[in-house]
Amino acid sequence: MSIPPPRERWLALLRAALADGTFLKLTLGKPGAADPTLRNLFARPVQLRDGARLSLVWRHATREVTRNLPPAEAADLLAGLLGTAFLDAHLFTATGQHQFETNPGGRPRLRSLPAPPGSVAPAPAPHDRPKDHLLPSSTPWLQDLGVTNPDGRPRAGMAGKLSQIQHFASLLPPLLRAAFPPERGTAPLEVIDAGSGKGYLTFTLAQLLGPGFRIRGLEARPELVAFCNGVAARHGLAERLSFVTGRLNPAQPQPCDLLIALHACDTATDDALALGIRAGARLLVVSPCCQHELRPALEAPPGLAPVWRHGIFRERHAEFATDALRALLLEWSGYATQVAEFTGAEHTARNLLLSGVRQRPPGDAAKAAAVREFAASYGIRGQALARHLDFPLTAAPAEPR
Ligand SMILES: C[S@@+](CC[C@H](N)C(=O)[O-])C[C@H]1O[C@@H](n2cnc3c(N)ncnc32)[C@H](O)[C@@H]1O
Repeated sequence: MSIPPPRERWLALLRAALADGTFLKLTLGKPGAADPTLRNLFARPVQLRDGARLSLVWRHATREVTRNLPPAEAADLLAGLLGTAFLDAHLFTATGQHQFETNPGGRPRLRSLPAPPGSVAPAPAPHDRPKDHLLPSSTPWLQDLGVTNPDGRPRAGMAGKLSQIQHFASLLPPLLRAAFPPERGTAPLEVIDAGSGKGYLTFTLAQLLGPGFRIRGLEARPELVAFCNGVAARHGLAERLSFVTGRLNPAQPQPCDLLIALHACDTATDDALALGIRAGARLLVVSPCCQHELRPALEAPPGLAPVWRHGIFRERHAEFATDALRALLLEWSGYATQVAEFTGAEHTARNLLLSGVRQRPPGDAAKAAAVREFAASYGIRGQALARHLDFPLTAAPAEPR
């Protein structure tokens, strides 16, 4: 794969910093001969009543001209100026400084340095402060995904989705710290979002994870894949965030250090978990839904026979039994599991986030016994994840004497 030229790399860094909220400021310098009064152009983020904007100031010898533009529009405008109206550019982000220079012979080059100690990401937009979200609603790609308006507020009917996305962003950091300690090395880590849909949570991951991770959304519907790839490209994220059309296949090994599968219906969650476990992923995060598989075969645990005729109770037990069995199978596979509420029931009933951080070798006998005991209590003889893992749920026959 050829490396893009320095100008394109600088512009990609700019778009990525605007997308993930790490942008601090930039200066374009060394103006061309077209306007002898022009000195430089300075840009910084501002929060206006209409939403997040980039304030661009053209500094001339005796005057200044200011334009406040939405970040994506500002990035397009800067792309048109760099290399023509201005030959140098200096980008400051919370994670680094990136200097694009054109030497006297016309040769461009890009130099990058880590940010000096003490650099901090810009403060969240004022209307986000009360909740102090890791993902401000002014984040530019949220608008392209149809979640927010240009003013950074949720579009009609999308307040629940925005709240879910922001809740997801708040649940992830402790899991990421547990699974990926800072001394993990320099190779990029592979991330799969199984059943990525419209990409809401895939983009959220890309924003939280930063450049050390390569994120792939795997999605059965090609039109969603094309849409998400378009948004990733527009926001300068395409180098580390891509979407591919395909169906989940746990039998087909692929590298995966972190797997998420959110609202992958019924046994698609089991397919995703099996894919991650087989790849030896360090972190698995799923939010199951539509747990239909076990319902027809579920038997009433002791004492529940009198209420088993109520369909809604059986339904709730089927959800619980499916997810609890998955958690126990993850434990047996060597993962320390946690279960958290994902979003409040006012937004969706699909409100459980099951996560596992790999901690031990698989196959612990006591964990296996716990799986079997639990399955027996509901009369469960087969389940998709157990089948993927070749785990017999019915007790092994007694050893012959
Ligand atoms: C309910 S949507 C959830 C999308 C996204 N994860 C989210 O939470 O916003 C489920 C998505 O998974 C996709 N999907 C379902 N089964 C799949 C499979 N076996 N392989 C790949 N994608 C699948 C569907 O096309 C759909 O876009």
